[in-house]
Formats: sequence, structure tokens, C-alpha cells
Amino acid sequence: SGLLLGHFMRASGIDAVIVERASAHHILGRIRAGVLEKTTVDLVERLGLDVRLQAEALCHDGFNLADGERLIRIDLADLVDKHVTVYGQTELTRDLMDACDERDLEVIYEVSEVAIHDHLTDNPYLTYTSKDGSAHRLDAEFICGCDGFHGVSRQAIKAKAGNSFERVYPFGWLGILADVPPCDPELIYANHSNGFALASMRSTSRSRYYIQVPLNEALEDWPDERFWDELAVRLGPGPAENLVRGPSIEKSIAPLRSFVFDRMRDGRLLLLGDSAHIVPPTGAKGLNLAASDVHYASSALVDFFLKNDREAVGDYSRKALSRVWKSERFSWSLTKLMHRFPDDTPFEREMQRAELDYISASRAAQTSIAENYVGLPV
Ligand code: DHB
Repeated sequence: SGLLLGHFMRASGIDAVIVERASAHHILGRIRAGVLEKTTVDLVERLGLDVRLQAEALCHDGFNLADGERLIRIDLADLVDKHVTVYGQTELTRDLMDACDERDLEVIYEVSEVAIHDHLTDNPYLTYTSKDGSAHRLDAEFICGCDGFHGVSRQAIKAKAGNSFERVYPFGWLGILADVPPCDPELIYANHSNGFALASMRSTSRSRYYIQVPLNEALEDWPDERFWDELAVRLGPGPAENLVRGPSIEKSIAPLRSFVFDRMRDGRLLLLGDSAHIVPPTGAKGLNLAASDVHYASSALVDFFLKNDREAVGDYSRKALSRVWKSERFSWSLTKLMHRFPDDTPFEREMQRAELDYISASRAAQTSIAENYVGLPV
């Protein structure tokens, strides 16, 4: 969100500096989800930074829910006349980073001790220590907190100025990346009695797979062979037949969380992306939601600087949160529908089964899933 917002500021002739804790190398090594909503792609296109994305991305007209017996195809093109774009979100970050020099967007990497000051006045500033150990002060009109769940920005807002809402899930996702062709041309989200599994991809030759695991599981417990065996069971006989195995080039476990802090602006400090909200990964909404925050924040800031209009900034939190809550709801409901919760009774299991059965036969239910999956309007 920082890079995207920074590029929008520079495109309107507004000065922006990005102060980043990590190194460029670290950021580009992080594996993120691979599904982009049209809203996200449109933002990158408006910046003219979509050249590689348009050349390399895959267009997906549908995806599948597997319920242990069958595949329920959600036909996005037919149901809502839209598609999603499959492109590694890390690749999008790379494209935005590569364009910084030519667009005159300054990024200062590997800073520490970042602190936000006076954001309730008209003259907020940041202090930080740069890589060489020198101390700096950066004065600004606005500070945009694009620094993630553990960053300093949300902490700079008095806790009682907003409300935090949180749900932690009692399992994680074990993911692997492998240079093998995907088992299906489309994504498959599977609810199996052993737990959830997801078949995704980065390209026609690189696959990304996940399985639900208990939170206390260690990576060492999951050598590649065990992962492939379990994945095949959970995806079911059809997709398993086409599963091509290969050595993992990345393997990690991610916890799942839903979180919202319902004050996304406090004076001259705006929160964007994970600093204000976290979604569980089911549905790949995290980066897309950060991008829609950028949509609202950039137009509000452009109104402020170029039209001398302060109202849009005042309305940023309300507008952004309206979409945040809907994405939270969808990510939570898809997580609830597709995972096995340790405390579930046979009743909850029957509710899942009935819901999947209903979805399989109802165009209305499929349309609701489709319009959320491709991304609600901004
Ligand atoms: C991916 C991750 C997701 O959470 C999802 O819903 C779809 C795809 C991925 O990593 O490709």
C-alpha cells in the first residue's frame, strides 16, 4: 500500500517519501497470495505500471469449491461477467519498486526506531534512524501508516480513540511453492474431513498449494512427500490424479486472523492495509483490501492538495471501513465454510455440508460468492 500510494502521489505531483523497515531483498523474498481483483489491476493500470502484469498474468473466469465428493464451479464470467487476475502479489510489489527511480519516488530502506509525532496537529513529523546509524526528522503534511499489523502507526493512535475487533483461528496454513504445472487450470478450495486444502498457482509452470494444519505443527514435521500425500487426499481423486509433485522451493506456516481497528484516520495520520485490518487468507483479500484503501486515500489526498478540499480526508475512514467490513465478512465466511474447526460438533459439520449442497444448486448463492470473490465495487 505504501508503494502504490506513493506512486499515486507522485503521479499527481505531490511529494512523497517511503520510510521502510525491511530491506528490498527481504520484501521481494516474501511469498504472498496470487489473486488480484479488477480494482487492484485497474489502479496499477491507471499508473501505467501494468506492462509486465498484462504480459504475464493469467485470467481466471472461475474457481472451484470441493466438498469431498464433487467440484462446485463458481463461473465468475457467467455469474457476474468478471474475472480475477492470477499474478504473484510479490511480483506486483517488484513492479512498483522497479518504477520508483523513473517516477522519482524515494524509498529509504532499512530504517529503525521510527516514531510518529504531533499527528493531531497540522505539522506532523517522523523521526527515524537510517541504516548508517544517523538520526533523521522528516516533516510532512500527512503520515500514511502502511506499516502492517505490527507497525508503529496504529500504536500511535490512542487505543480508546477507536475499537479493535479480533478473531484468531485455531489453525494455520502450511504452504509450498513448487515449479510444477498446476493440477487444474483453476483454483480449488477443498473442504475435506482431514481439513482444508487449496490448489493455487503463480503461472502455468509454478504451483502454490496450502493445507490447514494445527497451530503447534512444525515445518520439520512436513517433509515434501508427506505434504504431497496429504494434499492429494484432501483435493480428492479428480485433482489428485493430475497432481504433479516436485521439490518445494518455499515452505512456510501462516497463522490466520481477522482484525479491524475502526479508526483509519486520526488527525493527520491515515492507516492503510494491514496496519488497520487483517483478513484470513481464504479468498486472497489482504493485498486487494490494501489496494482499495489506497484508492480512497489517494483520491482524498489529491483533493486536499490539488483542490484544497479537506472533506474527503475527513471521510476516508468511513469510506474505507465500509469496504473493509464486507471483505472481512467474506473472508471469515469462506474460512468458516471450508475449514475443519477443532471444536466443531457434528451439527456444525452438517451445516457446512448443507451450505455446500445449497451453493451447488443455487445460482443466487453462487452469484453472491462470485461478486465478493471478484471484489466489491469501490
Ligand atoms: C492464494 C492464496 C489465497 O489465500 C487464495 O485464496 C487464493 C490463492 C495463493 O497464494 O495463490
